[in-house]
Amino acid sequence: MCGIVGIISSKEVTGRILNSLKKLEYRGYDSAGIATLVEGNINEVKCEGRVEVLEKDITKFNLKGDIGIGHVRWATHGKPSKINAHPHSSEHVSVVHNGIIENSTILKKFLEKKGYEFKSQTDTEVIAHLVTEYLKKNSIKDTIIKVLKRLHGSFALGIIFKGQSNLMVGAKRGSPLAVGYGPNENYIGSDSYALKSMTNKISYLDDGEFCIIKKDQIEFFGTEGTKINKKVMNLSKDAIDYDKGDYKYFMEKEIDEQPSTITACINEYIDKHNKQINIYNFPWKISSIESVMLIGCGTAFHSCLMAKYWMEQNTNLDVSVDIASEFRYRKVKFKKNCLYIVVSQSGETADTHAALDLCKRNKMKTCAVVNVIESSIARDADLVLPIYCGQEVGVASTKAFIGQMLVLYILSTKISFDQKCISRKEYQAKVDNLLKLSNAAKKTLKLDQKIFNVGKTFADAKGSMFLGRGYSFPIALEGALKLKELAYVHAEGYPAGEMKHGPLALIEEGMPVVVLAPRDEHYKKTISNMQEVIARGAKVLLITNNNKDEVISENIWEKIEVDQLDDELIPFLMTIPLQKLAFYSALEKGYDIDKPRNLAKSVTVE
Ligand code: F6R
Repeated sequence: MCGIVGIISSKEVTGRILNSLKKLEYRGYDSAGIATLVEGNINEVKCEGRVEVLEKDITKFNLKGDIGIGHVRWATHGKPSKINAHPHSSEHVSVVHNGIIENSTILKKFLEKKGYEFKSQTDTEVIAHLVTEYLKKNSIKDTIIKVLKRLHGSFALGIIFKGQSNLMVGAKRGSPLAVGYGPNENYIGSDSYALKSMTNKISYLDDGEFCIIKKDQIEFFGTEGTKINKKVMNLSKDAIDYDKGDYKYFMEKEIDEQPSTITACINEYIDKHNKQINIYNFPWKISSIESVMLIGCGTAFHSCLMAKYWMEQNTNLDVSVDIASEFRYRKVKFKKNCLYIVVSQSGETADTHAALDLCKRNKMKTCAVVNVIESSIARDADLVLPIYCGQEVGVASTKAFIGQMLVLYILSTKISFDQKCISRKEYQAKVDNLLKLSNAAKKTLKLDQKIFNVGKTFADAKGSMFLGRGYSFPIALEGALKLKELAYVHAEGYPAGEMKHGPLALIEEGMPVVVLAPRDEHYKKTISNMQEVIARGAKVLLITNNNKDEVISENIWEKIEVDQLDDELIPFLMTIPLQKLAFYSALEKGYDIDKPRNLAKSVTVE
């Protein structure tokens, strides 16, 4: 999704804006641009494609300046092109924008009648002209108050003004905006990561707020222009230097990191000595919670679905799951003793944030399972349970999925014990099993060669299916999502038992099908479903856990055996070969693994 950077300084800024834009590349984008003021005049350089292209153009045009704004754009209104790339400038102002202006068509008509001419197809250009229009009769501050009131939809904005080399404006509604404090210079950025090489002192704008930034001063204002104070946060240093190390792709590194991220998370939540789970900051009596609603998008939704299976198995809770973009628009009947859990790696996903907001407006108990602890979702929820994965850069979520499932499993086990659904002995056995998970994940990573070999078949396929029952169903959905987003192969995740109700018609000779069949209570039934697809010509990759005594079928194309572990924890191990499968399929096709087409890491528009 779009990313914003702005720097005001007494030193040259273009190089540093470029560096910060590179930090925002992980969000996914299709064009980039920078505008600076040189002797008070707006100069801009924009391009379609990557920041490296922009860098070359900036050198070519020798763009300089002590104040500037930069942007990476993920197209919403208008195709990816140089003309649609941000910043969008009028003669008087230059604007970068993340979000969607929903009333841009109406505003455009209003501005056209006043004689403004539009160059791009974007919704953002209206902001540049609207600011220009209001500046005719108002101060900068009053202009911003008036313009923000006229904009519908979501935005994070960075604005510079012709002839005003001493100030820059930042504003936010819906989309995130961080403000950074430096030595005789200050910054804005879509997230703290973009600013981390320059500062670890950050404030976050809340919805409706804006700021006027000078190099030695930052003033914050509420919607009506009343001055407000903002908390300054000191960011942790841990994520500052996250890089690829010896890996070619972040995703590959992030998959391989999973045993250590599991350990890091377990160390935070588990008291190994007393064999118990520590969630100290739980603000409610666990016994008072009667139901749970889990909400997320994409991969995070799959971890929510996984948690439903665990919670239903181990607690007395009534558990529901929903996709955030659906939940937020349904006529939900909120329940007083329900815990609303939102799950989000980035903590910035617009739909998930809106779902959280809806729960809060209805005065519900809210909990956020997030990776980025400084994120908007983390800041707004009553209880935050971090997943402690470290930064995830690959657009396709891998270690964060494992981390989300882990935290949700830990929470489910804690509720189960506190609500007396399991005995202390059972509780401690679950904790013991969790302590074996990291090692089992390490062993699963060693199955690499086999997965590499099958990757080519999936890469070349027209379509594929991923089947599982019970705990394996959410993992089948996740495996299919990974293959779709990385290798651009049509893939469907399905409950194995549903195949004969329709999708079996899709199976044809040579179609690759992944069957997830751990030796749990569903094993025999899943194997029968597997035989049904093999009989219709499917090439089956069976993923199961090892059992030396049994030969399942001679007609299986390939078999991968993960370690033996408690049934409830097998989903963690089953996930790893599926991540690798998607990775190798995309590698085979030479695709951009860390930045799949059309996708973004931080989905800040709905
Ligand atoms: C898939 C993927 C996405 C995200 C989804 C939610 O690999 O990464 O489906 O899971 O966009 O993002 P977060 O977790 O940041 O809310």
